[in-house]
Amino acid sequence: MAALILFGGGGDLAMRMLLPSLYFLEHDGLLPEGLKIIGAARSEETADEYIGKVQDAVKAKAEADKAWDEDSWARMKARLDYLAIDATSAESLKRLKAKVGDGEVTSFLAVSPSLYGRIVTAMKEAGLAERNCRIVLEKPVGRDLKSFLEIDDAVGHAFREDQVFRIDHYLGKETVQNLTALRFGNTIFEPLWNNLTIDHVQITIGETVGVGDRWPYYDEYGALRDMLQNHMLQLLCLVAMEPPSDLDPESLRNEKVKVLRSLRPITPEEAERVTVRGQYVAGVSEGKPAKSYEEERGQPSDTETFVAIRADIDNWRWAGVPFFMRTGKRLPEKRTEIVIQFKPVPHSIFDNDEGEAPANRMIIELQPEEDISLTVMNKRPGLDKRMQLQPITMSLSWGVDGKSAAPPRRRIAYERLLLDAMHGDSTLFVRRDEAEQAWKWVDEVADAWAESGQKPDQYVAGTWGPDTADMLMMRTGRDWNTTN
Ligand code: BG6
Repeated sequence: MAALILFGGGGDLAMRMLLPSLYFLEHDGLLPEGLKIIGAARSEETADEYIGKVQDAVKAKAEADKAWDEDSWARMKARLDYLAIDATSAESLKRLKAKVGDGEVTSFLAVSPSLYGRIVTAMKEAGLAERNCRIVLEKPVGRDLKSFLEIDDAVGHAFREDQVFRIDHYLGKETVQNLTALRFGNTIFEPLWNNLTIDHVQITIGETVGVGDRWPYYDEYGALRDMLQNHMLQLLCLVAMEPPSDLDPESLRNEKVKVLRSLRPITPEEAERVTVRGQYVAGVSEGKPAKSYEEERGQPSDTETFVAIRADIDNWRWAGVPFFMRTGKRLPEKRTEIVIQFKPVPHSIFDNDEGEAPANRMIIELQPEEDISLTVMNKRPGLDKRMQLQPITMSLSWGVDGKSAAPPRRRIAYERLLLDAMHGDSTLFVRRDEAEQAWKWVDEVADAWAESGQKPDQYVAGTWGPDTADMLMMRTGRDWNTTN
């Protein structure tokens, strides 16, 4: 019998993401046969009470997706169990071990990372780190390179690297995987994917939500560590990496780590020119008044809720091609996109009324829609004596040709990742050296800020960050994408 243990099984991540993901997998008949799902947490409650809460959480999500059915739930319910434990105590974990038996065990740590070290030590003692066991670690693992290594060393003491699955849920998103398909499943893009043809790349992860009552966590991390160290750098790696020789987890991750190693360090002298920190003040978000971050926090704070950075990748392919990244809370839209901006034609033979025709641009949209589109130039139809150009956008999204099937249900990124972890496939998980390199680069940025005393610039909630973020682009003669 295989088992999945959810440490922190009653917490926010488990209830909002993990258990609904498991329900959807159950609904689609994808869960391993005989799998037991065991919630493990401190709270003294019975299995029935726990299952009742899981049902409420799962049903709400499944109904919203029109995927609720009693049969699927009955099957999932039969797998569910609960045990009240102290996860840092080996004695307590031995009771858990007795419950799961000797089959394969995947343990998902959805608890505070400050407990990871003590939990893995107790797991080893309780027999939950044997060869047939795997461990999934939710971010953030550490808040800098040093604390990452401390936690990861403790994990490495209990588990071998091939048993460790470090989650970055962006890697479970469909369009993120589609990026690899786009680049390496087609011949037409790869020859253009370099500094001869590409002017620059922009990566935006915009969120409308504020920090709200997550501030005890967020105030210690800020946008740099919460979003850029992981999600944004992973996206950058997938755009910038060399073609791997195959889709083996190691081949892919070897290429990603090379990109991280090629990131030019940001020095304190340069920080002000190539990085922007921002923090929202009161404004209007999604039509409603929104408090400032400091009001939510209840006291003054220097934590950034917005970050924009120009990164340079020092290798042959990307020399001279800046990668601009920005992410923030309380921006006007929940929008995640990667913009590949191509260079203009070397010599224009057209005489457009509107001036120079825009250069080609590819937009890979991850949220709110999943779409890949390409802007190309077209002749404006008509009998005008002068040939005029107009941009048209070709969309590569599902169903655009009118023949494709309706798009499949948008899966929660964790569905894919939970399944892969249980199958032992680490392709979409972050290897230790990747996390290490990403922290190294991010630490340099954080140190540069600390050294230069760079404080966050204010921006009004509901806007696209501080003016300095626009200036970061404008100084190079470019601007952020504003088309959807
Ligand atoms: C998490 C961050 O990793 O990602 C959150 O901790 C953020 O602050 C979230 O809101 C965004 O994820 P998604 O999938 O909604 O873009």
